[in-house]
Amino acid sequence: MFCLRGFSIFISCFILLVVQSSHGSEIIGGTEVKPHSLPFMALLETKNKPVCGGILINPSWVLTAAHCTDIKEVLLGVHSIKAKDDQSRQVRKVKSYVSHPCYDKDDKVNDLQLLKLNKPVKETKTVQTLKIKPVKDPAADTTCRVAGWGTTNNSKKQMSDVLMAVNVTVIDRVKCNSKDYYNFKPVITNSMICAGSNGKNSADTCQGDSGGPLLCNGELVGVTSFGVNCGLIEKPGVYSFLSAKQLTWIQKTMKKSEI
Ligand SMILES: *[C@@H]1O[C@H](CO)[C@@H](O)[C@H](O)[C@H]1NC(C)=O
Ligand SMILES: *[C@@H]1O[C@H](CO)[C@@H](O)[C@H](O)[C@H]1NC(C)=O
Repeated sequence: MFCLRGFSIFISCFILLVVQSSHGSEIIGGTEVKPHSLPFMALLETKNKPVCGGILINPSWVLTAAHCTDIKEVLLGVHSIKAKDDQSRQVRKVKSYVSHPCYDKDDKVNDLQLLKLNKPVKETKTVQTLKIKPVKDPAADTTCRVAGWGTTNNSKKQMSDVLMAVNVTVIDRVKCNSKDYYNFKPVITNSMICAGSNGKNSADTCQGDSGGPLLCNGELVGVTSFGVNCGLIEKPGVYSFLSAKQLTWIQKTMKKSEI
């Protein structure tokens, strides 16, 4: 695949929203979701430690962020991380992973990855796939929803025990690239969506939320990618947009691997 490289300048201050990175966080400004109301939510672990979120898009496949590396286990049907004997859980190992061929860790473009499970999940009330379909680029000011077990408090670098969610507001790309916002460091491209505060509140994803969903009108529109700190109005969360091109990559990748 031919991959375009953008600009990569002053990247050192960026954090990807995995727990091991320099910052960490959970959903900021959110509330606990009704248990199992988002049955496609996956909790991703490396060495028995939860580090990222993911989205079950097929009984054998979980979509997450490319920067969530070294994922060993995928837990479905989780609400509280501590409730290890919850009968609604299904745990799978990662059989193989496919990072987007054009992912660039400096430019942060194409921050998408597919994890193939060692065995398909059984769809139940608490474990269900979220079908991906073509979606429109959400207009500025659209209200969308993000979810995850990431840090909920900037000063407490710890995952949330329960699944949290918050409404975020889509921010226009021109504004998101402006001087007070990301100032083109990195460039917010058409393949990214900025979403956060409505101008008054603090609403954001944080460390540990990477790889989770950005849902607009209940449809999967993006995947949690990066931010600077958490909950800052002028540094909103940035999401990989599931454009038609990305859907094609996802569908081709899943098909190729079925052979
Ligand atoms: C965040 O955590 C700190 C330290 O545990 C605590 O003092 C503070 O009240 C918390 N803030 C919120 C908003 O929960
Ligand atoms: C989140 O947004 C949806 C859709 O606009 C709205 O129905 C819901 O009440 C909001 N939830 C919260 C907690 O603000």
